[in-house]
Amino acid sequence: MNPNKALWEKGDFTRIAATMRESGAALVNSFGVTQGLKVLDLGCGDGTTALPAAALGADVLAVDIAENLVEAGTRRARERGLANCTFQEGDATDLRQLEDKSFDLVVSIFGAMFAPKPFDVAKEMVRVTRPGGRIVMGNWIPNDPTLVAQILKTCAAYTPPPPEGFVSPMSWGVEDEVTARFMAAGVPKDNIAFARDSFTFNYPGPPSRFVGEFRAYYGPTMNAFAAAEESGRADDLQAELEALFASQNASPSQDATRIPATFLRVTVVRE
Ligand SMILES: C[S@@+](CC[C@H](N)C(=O)[O-])C[C@H]1O[C@@H](n2cnc3c(N)ncnc32)[C@H](O)[C@@H]1O
Repeated sequence: MNPNKALWEKGDFTRIAATMRESGAALVNSFGVTQGLKVLDLGCGDGTTALPAAALGADVLAVDIAENLVEAGTRRARERGLANCTFQEGDATDLRQLEDKSFDLVVSIFGAMFAPKPFDVAKEMVRVTRPGGRIVMGNWIPNDPTLVAQILKTCAAYTPPPPEGFVSPMSWGVEDEVTARFMAAGVPKDNIAFARDSFTFNYPGPPSRFVGEFRAYYGPTMNAFAAAEESGRADDLQAELEALFASQNASPSQDATRIPATFLRVTVVRE
């Protein structure tokens, strides 16, 4: 089994995605979606950005490596009557089922960053974008003090070191690395732009319960807890994450969690 696929089919990412809908929709509103725009959402999960894009009239193909998330997205689109939003399984490192130059906009929000072989991913995203079309990526930033970078950093300290040659997904949050990947795919440097943006997680319960959702349902955190349990450090990991979530909680209520997290927004224009 492909370990990248296994990681995301583990647990149930829809539980985390449910806390990301508000910012997903706001982000899509900034893309300038027009009726009939051909959009590819890569690493789409259960449709946090794909569904709002379809609701604005885009013709959306949503691709994800995880079968359970493709099923969940298909269900959500059907429930909302969005016949213009199709989900299918696929791997961002090899999109051979998709034709060259077939999308006006390729979106990947915290999605393709988790695929291995980042140079192949950039090449595939550029290949399927039409000349004059755009690619928009949202990528978490290594060592950023906000939530997701800190979760992944904390978890890494409890997990065995990755195999030789492993490229960290967080390297997609480093401007020079991203530039090198898209330039290798034939994009001129001037066509690659960066901005810091913010994404807010909303959970209808206290921060400690939100940590519980990550522990039970989010693949990377589940793996870290499994390793921490083996070394007898699961309580330490739980305590570290609870302290992190509590310190970042911007909700005025003790019984709710609202945590903003900073990400790198990458916009590429294909020539
Ligand atoms: C953090 S989730 C984000 C999902 C969605 N974009 C969102 O904002 O809710 C990462 C997603 O990337 C998908 N993914 C990871 N590796 C992938 C790959 N090689 N090809 C396609 N999708 C991938 C996972 O299955 C998961 O749905």
